[in-house]
Amino acid sequence: MSLRREDARLAGQRIVISAGPTFEDIDPVRFIGNRSSGKMGFAIAAAAARRAADVVLVAGPVTLPTPMGLRRVDVRSAAQMHAAVLAELPADVYVGAAAVADFTPQRVAPSKIKKQAGVDTLTLELVRTTDILADVAAHAQRPRLVVGFAAETDHVEQYARGKLEKKKLDLIAANRVGIAGSGFESDDNALMVYWRDGERALGPAPKTQLADALLDLIAERLHA
Ligand code: PMT
Repeated sequence: MSLRREDARLAGQRIVISAGPTFEDIDPVRFIGNRSSGKMGFAIAAAAARRAADVVLVAGPVTLPTPMGLRRVDVRSAAQMHAAVLAELPADVYVGAAAVADFTPQRVAPSKIKKQAGVDTLTLELVRTTDILADVAAHAQRPRLVVGFAAETDHVEQYARGKLEKKKLDLIAANRVGIAGSGFESDDNALMVYWRDGERALGPAPKTQLADALLDLIAERLHA
């Protein structure tokens, strides 16, 4: 099998990709989590492996099969994903496609929280999770290219560029969520990718095709 020129540029590059949601346990039977099927991140990981990159896929709780030619590390919570991703550094590229929970319960109840007669509310104390993407970008073994995702319902460019700058990323792929046929769970998506002095629209297209288009851009920026 011969590789296209863009494909060959990622051969042998170590690429760490996060995908899927994280689940933050409340008690042994309940959790809070973000919506994410893992399809976008798994498609990127599969496409990178086809380009002969050395791929590690850090996956939250999803039901997808493992793509060929990569190593998969399964995690459940944001804290576990943080530890698993940082343990894979050094790497050439990090792609944060996971929908990481921003908040986690301050404490996990050791047994099932029982409903109390006459009490109609339950108050949970939540604390911020650690930002994996920002920590990777600030790491002593920072990958040459750190790529974030931004799931936005509105003001897509403004919020995505804000994250690009605040988290010190090289690229950010923004997708609109909350509309049919894009973002979470669907097979298709559309990405607006931003970097400091540029942008590129990818799609709408199936996530499998978008993954290749994003990797073309990653290869370009890696060798810019
Ligand atoms: O999985 P699918 O169903 O295919 O859906 C794909 C997707 C919509 C989940 C994906 O394309 C996507 O947008 N992923 C990022 C979702 C998200 O959490 O976006 P955000 O804007 O809240 O976070 C911004 C970035 O910070 C993301 O790269 C996220 O991985 C990262 N982050 C967030 C919080 C945290 N504690 N650590 C992080 O690394």
